[in-house]
Amino acid sequence: MIYIANPEFDEAEKSAVTDVLDSGMVADGEIVRSFEDEFATYCGTEHGIATSNGTTALHAALEALDIGDGDTVLTTPFSFIATANAIRFTGAEPVFADIDPQTYNLDPEAAAEVARESDVDAIMTVHLYGLASDLDPLADLADELNIPLIEDAAQAHGATYNGTRVGAAGDVACFSFYPTKNMTTGEGGMITTDRDDVANRARRYINHGRTDTYEHAEVGHNYRMTNIAAAIGREQLNKLPGYIEARRANAARLTAGLADTPVVTPTEPAGRDHAYHQYTIRAPDRDDLDTYLENNGVGASVYYPRCIHTQPAYDGVTCQARHAEIAADTVLSLPVHPALTDSDIDHIIEVIQNYA
Ligand SMILES: Cc1ncc(COP(=O)(O)O)c(C=O)c1O
Repeated sequence: MIYIANPEFDEAEKSAVTDVLDSGMVADGEIVRSFEDEFATYCGTEHGIATSNGTTALHAALEALDIGDGDTVLTTPFSFIATANAIRFTGAEPVFADIDPQTYNLDPEAAAEVARESDVDAIMTVHLYGLASDLDPLADLADELNIPLIEDAAQAHGATYNGTRVGAAGDVACFSFYPTKNMTTGEGGMITTDRDDVANRARRYINHGRTDTYEHAEVGHNYRMTNIAAAIGREQLNKLPGYIEARRANAARLTAGLADTPVVTPTEPAGRDHAYHQYTIRAPDRDDLDTYLENNGVGASVYYPRCIHTQPAYDGVTCQARHAEIAADTVLSLPVHPALTDSDIDHIIEVIQNYA
């Protein structure tokens, strides 16, 4: 079976973890600080704040921006549910705008319409599947409304927008290091920002609001990363450029091979380097194709079969999101990870050709 994800570790991660275990300093510590600095440098931001996962990164980032009870945050309904849940954790409510059907990301025009109608307090865009959102118009909208822009970059380590890596465009960005992501720490997350105030507050929120050894300025959480996770993360970060190159090469081979089939292959708009966290096609008979692939040794997957506003947990939330709803019925992600061989990719192409 060719799996949809296949995280890879070698001697580098094993020896880094062994060093941490030997040191006895296994919880938050110096290795986390080094990982934060290195990840912030990679993204081109002043600060990196490591967290226990991507969801806690989003929650702490929103808190650091003072989003809370009674606020509303504009976002996409076509994402992993953590995007909206993090908004709700603060006491705020998500307000959804439709996506661009080509890129699957928040459509800046739909966002502008909803943001003005609903008087929102922040915008959270998601770089879905590893493709940067259209950041310039979203940043302009946030500036015009004088509200913060948050990047949910959980899927987009290494993606670029006009030559700059995601993570530095908004007031704050959040990444996930879950094992299916472009790089992993097992579980883990990172907040990146240039804003000193946001960095300081986020750092407090992830550590019980601590300002001194036994002084706590506000009620915070334990959202800290461990040295063990950070040790893995530092090695994975070294490998990230190679991983992205391999994902992009695999995606190019898939796109060339699928050219004469009826499936719609992913778009890469000018000025945006797709990081191909997922290689997502569209097929009208998506579920049949998914089963056919599975029966022929290819583990494809649907991200996401339901929009967030149609989930039972968001019962009562309404929005105009026709493109998002069509995407939920038609998208299918194919394996594109760096561990694939050329013959794996040729097999995926052949199965889809045979199906067609
Ligand atoms: C778009 C998006 N946001 C947030 C998250 C949450 O990250 P984590 O699973 O590390 O909590 C994920 C991860 O699956 C994600 O894909």
